[in-house]
Amino acid sequence: MEVNTITQSKRIAILTGGGDTPALNSSIKAIRDRAVVLGYDVLGIRRGWKGLTGDGEMIDITSASIDATYGGTVLRSSRTNPFAPGNETRKMEVLQNLKAYKIDVLVVIGGDDTIGAARTLYLEEKIPVIAFPKTIDNDLRTMSFSTSEKNQEVVLCPGFPTAADTVIDYTNKLKTYAQSHERVLVIEVMGRNAGWLAGAAAMAGADFVLVPEVVMDEARKADFIRQVKKAYEKAEQGYVVVAVAEGVQWYDDSKGVADYVHASSELDDFGHPAFGGVCGVVARDIKKATGYPAKGVISGFYARSGSCGAYDIKLTQVLADRLQQMLREESFGRMPVVDVVTADAHLVMENTRSIDLEHVGNFPLPESYYDLSAYNISTTYRTMLNDVVSLKNQESFDIPIVAVKK
Ligand code: F6P
Repeated sequence: MEVNTITQSKRIAILTGGGDTPALNSSIKAIRDRAVVLGYDVLGIRRGWKGLTGDGEMIDITSASIDATYGGTVLRSSRTNPFAPGNETRKMEVLQNLKAYKIDVLVVIGGDDTIGAARTLYLEEKIPVIAFPKTIDNDLRTMSFSTSEKNQEVVLCPGFPTAADTVIDYTNKLKTYAQSHERVLVIEVMGRNAGWLAGAAAMAGADFVLVPEVVMDEARKADFIRQVKKAYEKAEQGYVVVAVAEGVQWYDDSKGVADYVHASSELDDFGHPAFGGVCGVVARDIKKATGYPAKGVISGFYARSGSCGAYDIKLTQVLADRLQQMLREESFGRMPVVDVVTADAHLVMENTRSIDLEHVGNFPLPESYYDLSAYNISTTYRTMLNDVVSLKNQESFDIPIVAVKK
């Protein structure tokens, strides 16, 4: 393997941590291109924080060919936590490698966990860090605002617009199955703590959306099932679609409490459990209570996969424009964000700013973005989604039944 020797230029290093998104390569390329213009050499750190542990693992991406539209991350990713309890040597290794590889600025592309670790490095070790947002869950606080309600704080993270389009496409496609077999189809969508992504299914006409922000306790579960029953009885096309976020707490009759459904008992490095399977439990309980043919299906990693959409390409570019400005001003310990969530035509650098990493954390769906009594997203959230997604509801056709002439 060819090993590049260390040059005298200023050096920036980029890492991608946590779950992948289709917008990571676009982010890496946009940041790399702008850093090169400022005279930086650019290293790619392999496998998130892991590539800064041990002896370190880097690639030189200063002039590497990176396809911005190809999903996933050319740097690869991991959920390694440099500050994981019981692994105290990791932090020292990270600091030593930053020195050994002569890294002047560290750019960390990640969600809440990855950026949380970057914030600690900045605050406690004074490492020049810039964070760059990413998550399909869209639950990383970006302190953005909505166009429809000027004072409403919302979130816009690269990766989410493409994943939302995939959820819409997935839901639209499965509607042909649901219609053919007259199902109550329960589609599970990723989203550990927030229902931003599950909400996208409503843009494909999902009749109901269940989100982690609202616990489905005994009373809500009973009321919801009553509404599903009514919707099924009235459904002109003969089917009902329910989208459920993986992190929904659903009332368990045998335990007498609302609980998560886990895919395994393992926790990741940041202490997160793996959710999976709530759609099957919801479908089972609907079937049990109504007798209607309910089925669950997990969209899972499909929403994280595939190529990067046009909105995300534009979004990552304007955020990288802001990041370039931050590099010029040596403005560290911050993250570029979109100010007001708009259609892509208005995604320009003037509509971005940077926020202090101290503000970054988890941000769920705002109350006004969910209609508690209809078990679906609100009109205000639909307005925001209309700006960021490119796919819409595909109407299914129906041919009238022939009536016997009397
Ligand atoms: O963090 C984003 C996410 O896609 C969550 O929605 C999901 O719970 C998690 O990643 C699963 O991640 P993995 O199985 O890759 O660790």
